[in-house]
Amino acid sequence: MSGMHGLRRQIVLAVALLVLSVMVATVIGSYVFYGLMFTYAPDHISNPGEWLPTGPEWGWILSSTLGAVALAAAVAIKLSQRLLVPLTSVAENLRRVSQGDLAARATGADGTVGEASLLVEDFNTMAERLERMASEQAFWNAAIAHELRTPVTVLRGRLQGLAEGVFLPEPKLFRSLLAQAEHLGGLIEDLRVVGLADSGHLSLRLERCRLADDIRGVVALLGPDLQAAGLAPALDLAEDEIDCDPGRMRQALLALLENARCHALPGTLRIVLDCAGGQARLAVSDDGPGIAPEAVAKVFEAFQRGEEARTRRPSGSGLGLAVVRAIAHAHSGQAACRPSAGGGTTFEIAWPASRGA
Ligand SMILES: Nc1ncnc2c1ncn2[C@@H]1O[C@H](COP(=O)(O)OP(=O)(O)O)[C@@H](O)[C@H]1O
Ligand SMILES: [Mg+2]
Repeated sequence: MSGMHGLRRQIVLAVALLVLSVMVATVIGSYVFYGLMFTYAPDHISNPGEWLPTGPEWGWILSSTLGAVALAAAVAIKLSQRLLVPLTSVAENLRRVSQGDLAARATGADGTVGEASLLVEDFNTMAERLERMASEQAFWNAAIAHELRTPVTVLRGRLQGLAEGVFLPEPKLFRSLLAQAEHLGGLIEDLRVVGLADSGHLSLRLERCRLADDIRGVVALLGPDLQAAGLAPALDLAEDEIDCDPGRMRQALLALLENARCHALPGTLRIVLDCAGGQARLAVSDDGPGIAPEAVAKVFEAFQRGEEARTRRPSGSGLGLAVVRAIAHAHSGQAACRPSAGGGTTFEIAWPASRGA
């Protein structure tokens, strides 16, 4: 509403000032004019009985009127410029945006205030968001296509080999085919979770449960793989009843343990669940190598992978931590990542432990 105020105030002020200055100029000007006429040309002043002004009087009336009109025109032009320049700019750029040029931005005139500058600002914010969304979408499409291509190519190659009799139909080959199909299935599920979360439609099956049991189950399931990677799990789990979707929490923990297996150095893998102050907190800490500070801000974004991971482990998709964050957000919580005491990384999900609180 202060914007509303801004423009109205400007118009009222300008018109009031205009009238005031015209009145002052007319009154003082008339005194001066007649003062001069009395002194230097008293014969040319119209007599009390006459209706028509004399020549010099006509001159005075005409010139003062013209002066007032010129002043009013100047004020109106200046005022309308402050309004029209931003308005035309917005209209013009709106047309460009509607024709697909998302880089279009509006500009105001000098001294643009109130609603006019708000309009320009809002328009530019909108255009910026549109542009960012479009580029994000293009990035997503390219990344998804890229991630799907590898497993599909592998599957096709092996199936083709089988069909042409190059490969023998051995159980080992079928197991590798199955692994590729499972990888594809996992990728599609991750994409679905992240996509649903982005549009705010990731629904949860919230229940009050002892999450510690689920965590033990997941760790037992991955135990041999973790051991093979030289990781020794150390559990410190609160046994409280916690509100959450246990299936989704298992999925998030699985992604975190999978990351420890792929990216962490051999050592202890601390898995902590605590429930204090109404906040549930699930944390996984490893002993190294840690994440570069400049990469921390982006690790939770989809398809963002470390240089190491990209070159050494092409099987990852960069969706694991995006899924973790999506699950945290769906629980009205947060996912975070910070250096751990052991020189590695702590990944943490925190969410309200009870829905009523
Ligand atoms: N425990 C960890 N230690 C060091 N780096 C990690 C760890 N977990 C994840 N990262 C880094 O974060 C990136 C993103 O992880 P993620 O989203 O799961 O993708 P992916 O595992 O498919 O590469 C990884 O590529 C890796 O560089
Ligand atoms: Mg991962």
